[in-house]
Amino acid sequence: MKTTYEQIWEAALPFQDKRDDAGHAAVTYGFAQKLVSLAGGEPQVIFPAIILHDTGWSRLTREERFVIFSPTATRDDELAVRYRHQEEGVAIARKILGDLAYPEEWTSEILEIISQHDTRDHFISHNEGIVRDADKLWRFSDVGFGADVERFEYEPDFLHDKLVGQIPSPMFFYSPTSRELALEELAARKREYAAGMPVGTIEASSAGVMSK
Ligand SMILES: [Fe+2]
Ligand SMILES: [Fe+2]
Repeated sequence: MKTTYEQIWEAALPFQDKRDDAGHAAVTYGFAQKLVSLAGGEPQVIFPAIILHDTGWSRLTREERFVIFSPTATRDDELAVRYRHQEEGVAIARKILGDLAYPEEWTSEILEIISQHDTRDHFISHNEGIVRDADKLWRFSDVGFGADVERFEYEPDFLHDKLVGQIPSPMFFYSPTSRELALEELAARKREYAAGMPVGTIEASSAGVMSK
């Protein structure tokens, strides 16, 4: 018998990782599980929200999806596609959760979180903060860090220091626990590249929570 989260995960699979970000859905889900265990929150809201949050990218064309990485795109161009992936994500999540007869009390909060997960300038609830932290922790993970080094041709040291600089900002992470996990992840990344090892060779102490 599959759990409800497994059913949501499977229904969302065809829509995942469409922005050249293989592993994003699984890695962020893993961080959400870790954060719920360490910092609390309602799994009934947080897990479906993190699983479904970026499914909307699948409804944009390849050109639209890559606007956010284009050096010539304006801020308005970038915002337009960000809003669209959020709107499309809400539609996909509503359909998937509706098909599974997921309780409305949780569905409405999940859709609210997805609707502005990339564009809100403040945190609206503990559940929402945990979802957005799990999403951001991607950049610190072995897979996400490696993807950015490759995509932007960053020196690992440069990316490491850039990310360290983002952690203290009050609007970056919601939870102090997320700041700690981010620092642990970065320490692991640094040990890897300082030793000339491939990214992902060393597990941060926060790792090992992936269920998918
Ligand atoms: Fe997103
Ligand atoms: Fe995301």
